[in-house]
Amino acid sequence: MSRFGHDPQAFFGAVYAATPPWDVGGPQPALSALLAEFPPAGPVLDVGCGSGDLAIALAQGGLEVTGVDFVEAAVAEAREKATRLPAAVAARLDFRVADALHPSRLPRRYGAVVDSGFFHLFEPEACDRFVEELVAALPPGGRYYMLEFALAFPVPNVPRAVGEDEVRARFTAANGWRVLACRPAEFLSRVAPVPATAACIQRV
Ligand SMILES: C[S@@+](CC[C@H](N)C(=O)[O-])C[C@H]1O[C@@H](n2cnc3c(N)ncnc32)[C@H](O)[C@@H]1O
Repeated sequence: MSRFGHDPQAFFGAVYAATPPWDVGGPQPALSALLAEFPPAGPVLDVGCGSGDLAIALAQGGLEVTGVDFVEAAVAEAREKATRLPAAVAARLDFRVADALHPSRLPRRYGAVVDSGFFHLFEPEACDRFVEELVAALPPGGRYYMLEFALAFPVPNVPRAVGEDEVRARFTAANGWRVLACRPAEFLSRVAPVPATAACIQRV
């Protein structure tokens, strides 16, 4: 069973009935800072894109972005935001309802995968498979950007903690990765900021 019950899609769908706690009205600043420091190549895949603010910011910077989320209401909100953008920016955005755990099933490869609070939703075994999927989705030189909780909460239906030690143990040179940055950060929420891990990792 997932951390979010037998039907995680229904769980997240219910959260989007109101404004979710992670929807802070813009991209996570820690992720924006990492992306500014280590600029991504396009096209970009935003896994678990939610209501689309990070994808939109990247498209405003000139990148083509596919945003994937399995909650229809989140994708509908992202598409609605896109209709209010200049046509040239909106044309660079493609929001899809799909399972983002399987980027290799999408029809293209990406210069970068951005992950604002997606990886930490899954148990380590599912993350093992997701990292294999990243290898299929990203050619050598492609980058994976992640921002995940670094703190464990002793309550159900909350992400797990992903620390720097886990990032460095998973993304090794032997596995074909180079960690360009991995550092403590904050994940903003509508409740309170949460200690987080931010990382930029490159396929070699
Ligand atoms: C913590 S929220 C972050 C949303 C967005 N990235 C942000 O920073 O605002 C995690 C998102 O992942 C989505 N999600 C969870 N599991 C998913 C899956 N297997 N496939 C696609 N989306 C998923 C949820 O619907 C939710 O929108």
